[in-house]
Amino acid sequence: MISKIYIETYGCQMNFADTEIVMGILKNKGYEVAKSIEEANVILLNTCSIRDNAEQRIYGRLSNLKNLKSQKPDLLLGILGCMAERLRKDLIEEKKIVDLVVGPDEYRRLPEYLDVAYSGDKGIGVRLSRTETYDDIEPYRENGLSAWISVMRGCDKFCTFCVVPFTRGRERSRSLNSVVQEIQRLSERGFREVTLLGQNVNSYSDGENDFADLLQACAKVDRKIRIRFTTSHPQDLSDKLLFTIAENPNICNYIHLPVQSGSNRILELMNRTYSIEHYLNLIDKARKIIPDVSFSTDIIAGFPTETWEDHFATLEVMKQVRYDGAYMFKYSPREGTKAYKMGDDVPDDVKTKRLQEIIDLQQSISYQKNQELIGKEEIVLVEGFSRKSDEFFSGRTDTNKVVIFPVEEKISIGDYIKVKINKATSATLFGEFVDFYYYLEEDSLKCI
Ligand code: SAH
Ligand code: SF4
Ligand code: F3S
Repeated sequence: MISKIYIETYGCQMNFADTEIVMGILKNKGYEVAKSIEEANVILLNTCSIRDNAEQRIYGRLSNLKNLKSQKPDLLLGILGCMAERLRKDLIEEKKIVDLVVGPDEYRRLPEYLDVAYSGDKGIGVRLSRTETYDDIEPYRENGLSAWISVMRGCDKFCTFCVVPFTRGRERSRSLNSVVQEIQRLSERGFREVTLLGQNVNSYSDGENDFADLLQACAKVDRKIRIRFTTSHPQDLSDKLLFTIAENPNICNYIHLPVQSGSNRILELMNRTYSIEHYLNLIDKARKIIPDVSFSTDIIAGFPTETWEDHFATLEVMKQVRYDGAYMFKYSPREGTKAYKMGDDVPDDVKTKRLQEIIDLQQSISYQKNQELIGKEEIVLVEGFSRKSDEFFSGRTDTNKVVIFPVEEKISIGDYIKVKINKATSATLFGEFVDFYYYLEEDSLKCI
C-alpha cells in the first residue's frame, strides 16, 4: 500500500518552505500527498514554538487527532518543526501521543524514521546540524505564482526572548548557484514571485557572496519574477544591499525591519545589538537611496521590566517611521532563553493594554498611509479572483498590500499591471486597471 502523507503547517514562512522540502523528500521515496486528512495514513504537524499560544494550539490539535487515531489504529502521527526540538521528551515520554518527532535539520532522514515508526517503535530525530541546508532537494510545489525559497537556516543572534537559535540551530547559508537554479526552474514553470527566506537574511554568506550579491543574481534570472525577502536584521543591513534594491526594478521596495521596542534600555536587555538612533538613521538612509521604499516591523509589548516610558518610546518610533504594516505581540516567556530568567513582571492586563495601544496606533497609521495612495498608481501582480466576488480580481502591490479591482477580459492571472487606487481601508486598496507593466532592464538605475 502506498502511504499518503498529510502535513499541517504552523508558524513562520520558513516552516511553510520546509513543508515543501519534506514533501520533496517523501515523494522521492514513493510517498504520495493526501488530498484530505481522511485519506492520510500519516499525519504530520510542522510546528512552531515562538510563543506559548503557538504551542498550546498544537497541543489542542493533537488531542483532536488522538480521537482520529483511536478510530484508525494504523494512522501514524508525527511532530516536525520547532516543537520537536523543544518538547521531544514531553511529546514522546510523557504525553505518549505521537509516533514520530523529527526536528528541522533531520528531514533528510524522515523516511528512515517513518520506517521505525511503522515497525512499532518511536521515530526520533532531533539533532541540529551546522551544515544541513537541503541545497540539493527540490521542494514539492503545486503550480502557482508565488514561491518561498529558504536561502539560509538557523540564527546566531540570540535575542534574549527568542527560541529560534535553540530550535533551528546555528546560521548557515545555501550556495548562490543552487538558489539561482531553483528560480530558473520556477521561471520555466511560470512562477511570477519569489520570496527569499531566512531569520536574518542580511547575514547570508556562502563563502563568496553576501546577501546583496544573492539578491542581484536572483533578480537577473527572469525580470518577470518579482523578488521579495524576509527578515532583515537592523544591525546587518548594508548600503550595498540598499543600492541593489534600488537598482533592480523587480526587487520589491519593501523591507521588513523588526524594531521590537523603541526604548534603548529594552533593546539592550533584548540583545538586539542596535540603538534606536542607529535604527532611525537606517530608515532615513534607506528612504534616500530607495525613494518609494516602505517598511513593516515586529513589536513586542511587555518585555520584562518594560515601563510606561519604554512603551511610549515604542509608540513614538512607530509615529516617526510610519510603518506600512506591523506584526505585534505580547511578550511570552520561553523556558531556556535569557529573558526567561529576567522574570515576567509586566502583568498580563498591562501587556494587553499596551499591545492594544500599539495595534490601534498602527491601524490608524496604515489607514492614513493607504488614504495617501488614493489617486496614485501601484504595480500589482494579479493573483486571482477576490474572495468576495468573481467580478473582481485581487492582487498585491510591491509593498504586499492587497488591491481589489474589476475583472477585465484583457487581464489574466499572473500579469503585472498598473492599478490606479481610488478607495482604501486600513487593510485593503481598491482601484482600476490602467495599463500592463513590464519590469524592464531599462527601468533600472532609477535613482543613482
Ligand atoms: N528573525 C526574525 C523574526 C523571528 S520570530 C527577526 O529577528 O525579526 C518573529 C517575531 O516574533 C519576532 O520578530 C518577535 O517580534 C516575535 N517574538 C519572538 N519571540 C517572542 C516571544 N518570546 N514573545 C513574544 N514575541 C516574540
Ligand atoms: Fe529570534 Fe533574534 Fe534570531 Fe530573529 S534575530 S530569529 S528574533 S534570535
Ligand atoms: Fe516558529 Fe520556528 Fe518559525 S519557532 S516562527 S516555526 S522558526
